[in-house]
Amino acid sequence: MVSVAIMGHGVVGSGVAEILTTHKQKLFASLGEEIYIKHILDLREFPDSPLVDKFTKDFNDIINDREVRVVVEVMGGLNPAYDFVKQCLKAGKSVVTSNKELVAAHGAELLAIAKEENVNFLFEASVGGGIPIIRPMSQCLVANIVYEIAGILNGTTNFILTKMIEDGMQFEDALKLAQDLGFAERNPAADIEGHDACRKICILASLAFGKHVYPDSVHTEGITNITLEDVKYAEAFNCVIKLIGKVKRLDSGKIDILVAPMFVPKMSQLANIDNEFNGIMVRGDCTGDVVFYGKGAGKLPTASAVVADVVDCCKHLKTRKFLFWADGNGSNIIPYTESKTAVYVRIKGENALDKAEKIFGAISVIKREDVPADEAAFVTTEMPYGDITEKIEALKNEGVEVLSTIRIGDL
Ligand code: HSE
Repeated sequence: MVSVAIMGHGVVGSGVAEILTTHKQKLFASLGEEIYIKHILDLREFPDSPLVDKFTKDFNDIINDREVRVVVEVMGGLNPAYDFVKQCLKAGKSVVTSNKELVAAHGAELLAIAKEENVNFLFEASVGGGIPIIRPMSQCLVANIVYEIAGILNGTTNFILTKMIEDGMQFEDALKLAQDLGFAERNPAADIEGHDACRKICILASLAFGKHVYPDSVHTEGITNITLEDVKYAEAFNCVIKLIGKVKRLDSGKIDILVAPMFVPKMSQLANIDNEFNGIMVRGDCTGDVVFYGKGAGKLPTASAVVADVVDCCKHLKTRKFLFWADGNGSNIIPYTESKTAVYVRIKGENALDKAEKIFGAISVIKREDVPADEAAFVTTEMPYGDITEKIEALKNEGVEVLSTIRIGDL
């Protein structure tokens, strides 16, 4: 029997307790031992829970219990999760977390402590919810040099964009629905402003390229400025709008990484990933493109990835799994202004398209019915993003109103 503790009994934590209970026999068959929930840490009361006798409000009950070999951290946020996880690792306990904020902010340090203490720090659920991606990348694709990773990494924003695209739903209504369904973060700003997707692409980039990529070194844009008009222009250009996290290894050895909404061509494998589903494309030199697809948010999908890590920790109580990256300082990342892209631009004003053509050179005009007479949209050729912003300023100086700009994804 292996004793485990679960820190947090929210959406994911209660899912972990549920799967460990309902799938007890299945897990026993896989592990050959029982996984026993000894403590559940939460400040709230759960008098109706069948696990009512397991609850504690005191972290000391876990850290001082030598029988607890694996601790699950599903509290979310950095405080007190960071301190608790560090203490658990230093006490020789393996830790499993779904907390992408924690891994993106402190992954290198926590992996180093785990290495030092010869225990495991696993975080499959931190990216892609129920989709296996950390383990496939660190094990199954290990023979590859990874060139690029691009993905729809946030279920909430994908749900919102799907509702806008398919049902013409307004942004706020779609967000409310995603919150009601339990996909959104406690503070949904992290979803809609792209920070959640940023944390996830940082984790994948750190894993793929061996150096920690911190979120504040990654240019991040969310979806709050996307309008139904943009959605219709995307449709007219045979694309859909998706929030994409993307990292690419350049010939220089540096990486080009960003999070932003993009026009995704309908023929791309990422275009049909809808609702709360996530999709992640990993481009390896031997495999070519491998695409991972599944539910990126929600109680049981995410808990399933957590429980798989718990089983893995239980199987490796005396050995460390090789999952590691070194610390990084951002020197391997190019400025986002140097990142090359084509961009969709929606404009308003007299002779706006003529002025755009003079400034941008060759442009592709997007035609759409039922637009105001002085409104137009076009797509630029590919150029460094810094050049795009300079030309946008020049356009504004010509008296043209720029209503939106969205990158065209090369996906
Ligand atoms: N808020 C996150 C999402 C939850 O919507 O994807 C899963 O990480």
